[in-house]
Amino acid sequence: MTKKAVKGFSKLSKEGKIEWIANEYLGGDENCIDLLKSYWHNDGAVQKIHDEFIENTISNFYVPFGIAPNFLINDEIFCVPMAIEESSVVAAAAKSATFWMERGGFKAEVISTTKIGHVHFAWYGEYSTLVDFFNSIKEKFYEGTQELTANMRARGGGIKDIQLINKTDLEPNYYQIMAKFETCEAMGANFINSLLEEFSKILQRELAESKLSEADKRILIIMCILSNYTPECIVRSEVSCPIEELTEGTNLSAEEFAKKFEQAIHVARIEPYRATTHNKGIFNGIDAVVIATGNDFRAIEACGHTYASRNGSYSSLTDVEINDGIFKFWIEVPLALGTIGGLTSLHPMVKFAHKLLGNPDSKQLMKIIASAGLAQNFGAIRSLVTTGIQKGHMKMHLLNILNQLGANEKERNEIKTFFENKVVSHQGVVNQFCKIRGISQKDLTNK
Ligand code: MEV
Repeated sequence: MTKKAVKGFSKLSKEGKIEWIANEYLGGDENCIDLLKSYWHNDGAVQKIHDEFIENTISNFYVPFGIAPNFLINDEIFCVPMAIEESSVVAAAAKSATFWMERGGFKAEVISTTKIGHVHFAWYGEYSTLVDFFNSIKEKFYEGTQELTANMRARGGGIKDIQLINKTDLEPNYYQIMAKFETCEAMGANFINSLLEEFSKILQRELAESKLSEADKRILIIMCILSNYTPECIVRSEVSCPIEELTEGTNLSAEEFAKKFEQAIHVARIEPYRATTHNKGIFNGIDAVVIATGNDFRAIEACGHTYASRNGSYSSLTDVEINDGIFKFWIEVPLALGTIGGLTSLHPMVKFAHKLLGNPDSKQLMKIIASAGLAQNFGAIRSLVTTGIQKGHMKMHLLNILNQLGANEKERNEIKTFFENKVVSHQGVVNQFCKIRGISQKDLTNK
């Protein structure tokens, strides 16, 4: 049966929303109502903070919050907080971090921190007229936004550059005011968007008050918005060691391992099918820390993927070099992060994550997160070119399978011991579980 549409859903109380959903969609199922309520925080004030992050909150959605210790970055050790659901990610990050801690750790540096935004507009006159007009009013964009930029300027940031860009070769009458910003400790979305909207008002006002012809005064502001693509907000993190120190835990020779690893990176450089999975693994590490520290993982991912395509074909975000017996592996990635604003001062777990990291500034956080991405990628490639990925992944996933099967403590221990030196497969665990319980697989599916 088609479900009823609803008007004014957002105006209902939280209980009212749950009741409506339960009645309209769940046949009044009390268990569903209890489930939703069981995920409420037992401190009403904390729950209220979560309720107010978004509209129509009815409950919370848990994701595990784990720790990857032993991240040695520029001679300082960090315990890196990671919020992620995928079984093997934290284990892999922790393993790689310890591996590199014993080999000098990660050397990370912030290359640039500039953010970008645009006023996208249509204009219908001669380009040269627009250029002259833009140059004659350029200072007004700075002057007219003094108040909006005052705090940021006091912190060392603000507007870095404003340019007129002609895009009419791609779209008729389409121009941009492209502005660059330094947003210091803030990710800067609100700061940038407010300024861009102000720029558009200044542009329209100055045009209207100009001596240009009525035809040349015509302008259509299409939109004002920051770009999440920040190719000038870049961090690099690198690890290196003599190749003979690389083989721990593999049965390949140092040369074989280094060569295979190098070729795996080359494959990800030239083959977009592989590059996508390769970078997905990098974002396993990056996103987990981005989420734990209250940053916007959609922005970070979108930007990273555009950057990965900057040379015309989607490619690896990490690279490798073997020279004179030294293995060097690095990542260069754009990360526009904030350590103030957004969730950072509101979400109790986000505040905890920052505290755990020693309340890093945004540049330090860029270095930590890039290193987490590099560690994740190193772990993935090492597994892929040696044991294969499933051995480690399925070992971590074993607990999920046991939980799905409803195994008790004794069964869990027996099955974990059984698989200690074997590759875990879903079917293998099911078979072993049925054997221990003395049931057939059919009994399982009938349960
Ligand atoms: C799985 O989430 C990520 C990997 O596939 C990454 C990779 O293949 O490099 C293991």
